Amino acid sequence: MSIRDRFPIFQKKVYLNSCSQGALSTDVMQAYQAYLRDWDEKGSPWELWVERSETARQQFAGLVNADPSEVAVCTSASAGVSALASALDFSGERNKVVVSDFEFPTIGHIWHAQERRGAQVVHVPAAGNIIPVERFADAIDDRTQIVSITHVCFRNGSRLDVPAIVDIAHRRGAWVLLDSYQTLGTQTVDVKTLKVDFLVGGVLKYLLASAGLAFLYARKELISNLYPTSMGWFSQANIFAMDIYADTPSPTARRFESGTPPVPSIYAGIAGMKLIQSLGMERIESRLRELTGAIKEGAMRRGFNLVTPVDPSRHGALITLRSHKVDLLVKWLEQDGIITSSRDNNLRISPHIYNNLSDVNRLIDCLTQHKELLV
Ligand SMILES: Cc1ncc(COP(=O)(O)O)c(C=O)c1O
Repeated sequence: MSIRDRFPIFQKKVYLNSCSQGALSTDVMQAYQAYLRDWDEKGSPWELWVERSETARQQFAGLVNADPSEVAVCTSASAGVSALASALDFSGERNKVVVSDFEFPTIGHIWHAQERRGAQVVHVPAAGNIIPVERFADAIDDRTQIVSITHVCFRNGSRLDVPAIVDIAHRRGAWVLLDSYQTLGTQTVDVKTLKVDFLVGGVLKYLLASAGLAFLYARKELISNLYPTSMGWFSQANIFAMDIYADTPSPTARRFESGTPPVPSIYAGIAGMKLIQSLGMERIESRLRELTGAIKEGAMRRGFNLVTPVDPSRHGALITLRSHKVDLLVKWLEQDGIITSSRDNNLRISPHIYNNLSDVNRLIDCLTQHKELLV
C-alpha cells in the first residue's frame, strides 16, 4: 500500500493543510477502534493504558533524541509550557522572558500571565518575514531567565536561526524553550544538536495524529531544581501513593504532567508517530524539499506574492502567499477540492509526505484562476 493510499481523504480532495491538522490515516482510524475495543473487552485496563502512555513517552524521546525521563506527556503544548512556567522563579534579578514575535499566541499568553508573578516579558519584533539574530542579541541580557522561540512560524513558515539564538542565550546564562510544533514530523529535531533546554510539541499536525496529546522535553540536569505549582497525581513520584497530605514531585520530567492521561489520543498518537518513524525522516525531508520547492517556483513564476523566505534553509514545510481576500481564496480552493488555511492575510499551503507534484500543479492552476485575489 502506498503512503497516500493510507489517507482516504485523497480519494476526494487535495489536502494541503498539515500545518493545522495532519490528514487522517487508516492507521489512526484503527487505533481509535482499538481503544474502544480494549475498553469494551477489558473493562478498565488502566495498567495497559498507563503502559501506552509510557510508549508515547518513549516515542517522543526517540523523536527528539532525548531520554524518556526528560519527557512529560501532556494534553497540549500549552499545558506543558504552563507547567514549566509555573516552576520558574521571577522574584529575583533574572526575571526577564524574551519572546519572539513569531510565537503561536498560546506562548505569548502563558508568558504574559507570568507578569503577575514578577516576570518582565520582552518581545523580539520581526523585520518583514524574518527576525534577524541581532534583534535577539539586543533583547537577551544578564537578566534574561528564558528565551522562548518557535522553530518555524505558524503564520508565515519562516524558520528561526535556532543554533545562533541558543548560543546568544547560553552566553548570557539564559535557558531556551523551543516550540517545535511546526517542525516535528517534517525534519530531524535533535535536542542535543540544537542544545535547547526545553522543547515542546504535539501530534496534531505533521505527526499525523489528533488533538489531546503533546509533550514537553526538559534537559535532565535542570529537572530536579524546578518545582511546578501546576500539579496533579500523575506528576507525583508515586502516582498511586494517594497521599492527600503530600506533594512529592516525580524526579523525572513527569513532574510537568498533571491528571489522567489522554488515553484515546495516546492510541492515535502512537499510530501517527509509528507511521512517521516507518517512513524515515530523510525520505520525508527530501519529499518536502521537492514539494515546497515546486510550490515556491510555481507561485513565483506566476507573480504571486511569496511571504515565506525563498531560501529553503529559512523556511519549514509551510509556504505562505499574500492575499488581499484570503478567506475568499480559501473558500474558492475548498470548492475546487483543495484544502488550505489562512493566518493574517497569508494563504497557508502545507504539504506532507502524502502529497505529490500533481497536487502542487492542481493548486497552482487553481490559484491562477483566482489570481486577482493574490496579486
Ligand atoms: C507552533 C505552535 N505551537 C503551539 C500550538 C498549539 O498548541 P496547543 O494547542 O497544543 O497548546 C500550535 C497550534 O497550531 C502551533 O502551531
